Amino acid sequence: MKVTVIGAGNVGATCANVLVHKDFLEEVVLLDIKEGTAEGKALDIWQSAAIENYSSFSKGVTNDYAASANSDVVVITSGLPRKPGMSRDDLISTNAAIVSSVTENVVKYSPNAVIIIVSNPLDVMTYCAYLTAKVDSKKVFGMAGILDTARYKAFLASELKVSPKDIQAVLMGGHGDTMVPLPRYTTVGGIPVSEMIAKDKLDAIIQRTKVGGGEIVNLLGTSAWYAPGAAAAQMVEAICKNENRIFPCCALLNGEYGMNGIYLGVPVKLGKNGIEQIIELQLNADEKKLLEDSAVAVREVMGALDKMRSASATN
Ligand code: NAI
Ligand code: 2OP
Repeated sequence: MKVTVIGAGNVGATCANVLVHKDFLEEVVLLDIKEGTAEGKALDIWQSAAIENYSSFSKGVTNDYAASANSDVVVITSGLPRKPGMSRDDLISTNAAIVSSVTENVVKYSPNAVIIIVSNPLDVMTYCAYLTAKVDSKKVFGMAGILDTARYKAFLASELKVSPKDIQAVLMGGHGDTMVPLPRYTTVGGIPVSEMIAKDKLDAIIQRTKVGGGEIVNLLGTSAWYAPGAAAAQMVEAICKNENRIFPCCALLNGEYGMNGIYLGVPVKLGKNGIEQIIELQLNADEKKLLEDSAVAVREVMGALDKMRSASATN
């Protein structure tokens, strides 16, 4: 199978590197607009194959979409990352222009591909790609929930001194400060998390998770890439191997959770067709309220994108 990663920056190159190490793909194409960047990184990655014992080939190209033709999955990471003091939403106009032009080319050369969006602001860039791609929404969705959940699991694992492998959890909502962690659906080795940790400690972990992206931006001066790249690669693997894995992903809701026409983080089943099923949790009143508040925040930015698109259509 063939996968293309658009944007050979921090997240894109990491995603490509994680994918080839998993060794189930024939080829990973890395594409960037910056002359030589994708070629150099893909070559460097390919030169680790003999050391790391994998066969998946990586090829880099500068803006040459013909090289991406007939990809099974395309991951879009192109766009500006956050700098300190910026919210994800500050990126909207620049990244919307990038994501829509990239998506047009992706669909032209790989009309049947499943498309995973990573660029921020995530929920709205996924909506932007969907509007441009004009394909089934089951084939256009975003990566954020796996990352946010992984951060939550990492903080819990450190606090409880257990392996993150034994923590099961799901976060919902938008990829931002209104994300919705669900302690009621968190278990540690099958044990409800509330039996393992005091409420004030859990609340502090939830709060840290909500601003987990910003914590790294403040430390590094740019946003995270190791966990985001690995999270996108995990989604690609679930699709290419038709694993039917359950992950929180940013999906278009058509009636689920009582919402319509909004891209929001929800648990889904990922398989060969992309989103095979959106899973509806039986949320209690407090959880529903948090999800609805998150949806309000996402709809506001979606509205800003709609305005920008209609202004550029009338100009
Ligand atoms: P980066 O700056 O390291 O890489 C972005 C790459 O995109 C650059 O190499 C740039 O040349 C390329 N690019 C720009 N315009 C392009 C175009 N038209 N065609 C092809 N390539 C183009 O940024 P980084 O850290 O890799 O982040 C990428 C995006 O992912 C950002 O928007 C960031 O906010 C987002 N992000 C999202 C996360 C999530 O959970 N959804 C997590 C981490 C980052
Ligand atoms: C993150 O959560 C900034 O969305 C990026 O790391």
